[in-house]
Amino acid sequence: MADGLSDFIAGMPKAELHLHIEGSLEPELAFALARRNGVRLPYPSVDALRAAYAFKNLQSFLDIYYQGMSVLIREDDFYDLTWAYLETAHRQNVVHTEIFFDPQGHTSRGVPFRDIVTGIRRALSDAETKFGITSRLIMCFLRHLDEDDAQRILDEALKFRDWIVGVGLDSSETGHPPRKFERVFRRARDAGFRAVAHAGEEGPPEYIWEALDLLGAERIDHGVRALEDKALVRRLAADRTTLTVCPLSNVRLCVFDDIRRHPLRTMLESGLAATVNSDDPAYFGGYVNENFVETSVALALTKQHLDQLARNAFAGAFIPEANRQTLLAQLESYT
Ligand code: HPA
Ligand code: ZN
Repeated sequence: MADGLSDFIAGMPKAELHLHIEGSLEPELAFALARRNGVRLPYPSVDALRAAYAFKNLQSFLDIYYQGMSVLIREDDFYDLTWAYLETAHRQNVVHTEIFFDPQGHTSRGVPFRDIVTGIRRALSDAETKFGITSRLIMCFLRHLDEDDAQRILDEALKFRDWIVGVGLDSSETGHPPRKFERVFRRARDAGFRAVAHAGEEGPPEYIWEALDLLGAERIDHGVRALEDKALVRRLAADRTTLTVCPLSNVRLCVFDDIRRHPLRTMLESGLAATVNSDDPAYFGGYVNENFVETSVALALTKQHLDQLARNAFAGAFIPEANRQTLLAQLESYT
């Protein structure tokens, strides 16, 4: 059954809605870019770097994640990074992907905003031509930085309005509630950006309420702590708000101590529009298919669960209705 299930998952057309492009930086590429750019990584080898990926919480991951992105300097680096992810995504039958990027992690090191978006955009466009994979780009604000910093990066994003579908909120959740960014999200939405936010990963259910009510978030990234608040579950279920769940991430960051205790199945069975995503696949031990397979085995998910998860992702994607119907039909003919 497990093999049949893996094959079923591998072949299923999927959308990925929660993927930080900087979190797809594999150690091999990190070292290659470090060499190309004359940057020194504080690890002697690929294996030593990989060995450092033992996280005890979100912050211990973020410290290494920001260090890793220091090798990304030129436009070509962002191209190569994005291309590598898209090749893997295509191999895993991801037919649509919505990619987060963290420009403040780069502009703070002197990398021009234009080089970041141009490199990523070129790879997305080449992948659509070569693989037929469609995509959207979502700019995240780093929530550990202040509102002014977020407003300044929004000024930059407005110059590339056509290339960026929406804004998100990531980085250190605890102590940085969504309300801190109410004004910048309002300004982004007024400019036509869609809105999403990480909430309820480590932070409390109140942060999910704030993301919905103060930021106007249309999707919640993670949202696994929603289950602690019955009124919130009712609200999210009634609105069919997409929750972009990342099971392997949650286990690696010790949000749950064992994948068998992951609430994904409970979320689905509570009427929540949960999806499966990889978050930072180079750091958390798998891309989207590994997330599906490991969760399916641990939680004894059925093909009906898998079909629902895949449908939820197409339903939550920021794409025109006609494209959505095409993708859903593709899924229907598969399942
Ligand atoms: N949570 C918050 N910030 C992040 C994450 C995450 O899972 N991945 C990359 N930045
Ligand atoms: Zn994330």
